[in-house]
Amino acid sequence: MSYDKPIHRIAIVGTGVIGASWAAQYLARGFDVVATDPAPNAEENLRKYVDEAWEELTAIGLSTGASRDRLSFNANMKEALSNADLVQENAPERPEFKIKLFADMDEATPVDSIIASSSSGITPSVMQTNCKHPERVLVGHPFNPPHIIPLVEVVGGSKTSPEAIQQAIAFYASIGKKPIHLKKELPGHVANRFQAALYREMLYLIEQGVLSVEDTDAAVCYGPGLRWGVMGQSLQWHLGGGAGGIKHFMDHLMDPLQGMMKALGTPDITPELKQTVMDGVMREASGRSVDQLAQDENRVLIGLLKLRGLDAEASASATESGPA
Ligand SMILES: NC(=O)c1ccc[n+]([C@@H]2O[C@H](COP(=O)([O-])OP(=O)(O)OC[C@H]3O[C@@H](n4cnc5c(N)ncnc54)[C@H](O)[C@@H]3O)[C@@H](O)[C@H]2O)c1
Repeated sequence: MSYDKPIHRIAIVGTGVIGASWAAQYLARGFDVVATDPAPNAEENLRKYVDEAWEELTAIGLSTGASRDRLSFNANMKEALSNADLVQENAPERPEFKIKLFADMDEATPVDSIIASSSSGITPSVMQTNCKHPERVLVGHPFNPPHIIPLVEVVGGSKTSPEAIQQAIAFYASIGKKPIHLKKELPGHVANRFQAALYREMLYLIEQGVLSVEDTDAAVCYGPGLRWGVMGQSLQWHLGGGAGGIKHFMDHLMDPLQGMMKALGTPDITPELKQTVMDGVMREASGRSVDQLAQDENRVLIGLLKLRGLDAEASASATESGPA
């Protein structure tokens, strides 16, 4: 099976936190979007989310044909998927549930259409277990919120065809996302593993009484985190090596860094440690609601994307190759 048909119609399965954001993203890129979710009020909540995100998406830059009127909702999943060129699945994160859901989605979706899961931790080999056409099932894992953060981790399962993976990568790139291809399946894919690795050490330093919660966060977001929003760590080391670049870094600075890696800790995550973190976070939030904090963060992220030219890239690439 070749997976080269143009993608015009997107189906969103599950319209919670991630599905609603994906729906907004695809509408902003000029697609027809049909969403499905069995929850009462799902359509109302989805439309409210899209309305609220539209201002941010407008600031990022809308593609030709982008319109909230192109969103439809159909609680009947079979009908919703019958014409989909790409399905983006965002239902609850439980392996047995996803295995059954993927078998049902596989039945309902045209055989030459891609079915991508947003799953953060379940591998595609598990999800495609009972599919008759597992070759088009893969993970397209976004980073929250998908309508702002460009990263999408693409990974196939043991029965996924390389052509389906290539089409998914090309598609995500064409709408301004930054797809990366994981050549092997891993629990948690990769970006969440990076977060887990960093957070292990952050919690360890809090547990050991080295830092308060607030100073641990400050050390990340006023230090290396600022640079990580611009360049990845390996390229950063090239700068860290000075005129000698990455070679100098590897020859002279890698050994001390390895020594530091060996000294990293693993915290014992007790109820007391959890309470310490919760208390610290509430002090940091200082009365601001989760929604308020998310809005504040999104505003800064959009500014950063603009500085990096990624918003322009997103609207330009989608306008050139988009579906409108
Ligand atoms: N929350 C995150 O930060 C995040 C980030 C990246 C990926 N993900 C992944 O996205 C997926 C969804 O996570 P979420 O945080 O949006 O969860 P959520 O609980 O906010 O949303 C799940 C939605 O699925 C719906 N649902 C339940 N049964 C369904 C069915 N049979 N068909 C269709 N929809 C159904 C629910 O009504 C709900 O609206 C998970 O696989 C998760 O791992 C989450």
